[in-house]
Amino acid sequence: MPVTVIDHPLIQHKLSVLRDRETTVRDFRALCTEISMLMAFEAMRDLPLEDAVVATPVAPARVKRLSGKKLALVGILRAGLVMVDGILGLVPGARVGHIGLYRDPETLKPVEYYCKLPGDIAERSVFLLDPMLATGGSAAKAIEVLEAHGARSIKLLCIIGAPEGIAAVSEVYPELEIILAARDERLNDHGYIVPGLGDAGDRIYGTK
Ligand code: PRP
Ligand code: URA
Repeated sequence: MPVTVIDHPLIQHKLSVLRDRETTVRDFRALCTEISMLMAFEAMRDLPLEDAVVATPVAPARVKRLSGKKLALVGILRAGLVMVDGILGLVPGARVGHIGLYRDPETLKPVEYYCKLPGDIAERSVFLLDPMLATGGSAAKAIEVLEAHGARSIKLLCIIGAPEGIAAVSEVYPELEIILAARDERLNDHGYIVPGLGDAGDRIYGTK
């Protein structure tokens, strides 16, 4: 099961503040953005490069440039939006897609309400973004939507994942690479990640 937990000290430190119930909305949002950027730095380590030559003020320089497939960042609304913001800071030319899903509070099943993706999504390396991977229902639904639109190269980036959600997504998509900042203990009876950080969307937007 290709699951990577990026446990860089900077990420772990920021995550410790993110989890704290006393952290303000403003700081929470900023930390999500920063952690996402740090995660993307590692998640994009294998992007292909090509040789090029540029003229410096002194002499020609042989350089490496990104090549191959272009990127698409797809955020699962709402919470995934902060991850899009963070990663766009690194790859400002990436195209952005949005998939609107919310978890039905009774059934915990995802309900789709919006989808807008780059038209050439099939030609792009897609980074699917959502801070929380709990039951895995939302992520699996978003992958289904992406594949229905032709996406073939997808990586899932979540800040915190529960073992149940990782297993559920991996069962349906065994080849999918899942990249996390932390793998937590379990889900509680309400489908919340333990210890987790609470409701990511509410903490990002102050809607509790
Ligand atoms: C949260 C989170 C994920 C989903 C994870 O979104 O951002 O999308 O729950 O849960 P799952 O793995 O069990 O599907 P939520 O449904 O609360 O919507 P929101 O982002 O609009 O707050
Ligand atoms: N969604 C969240 O925002 N947090 C959880 O712990 C589970 C689902």
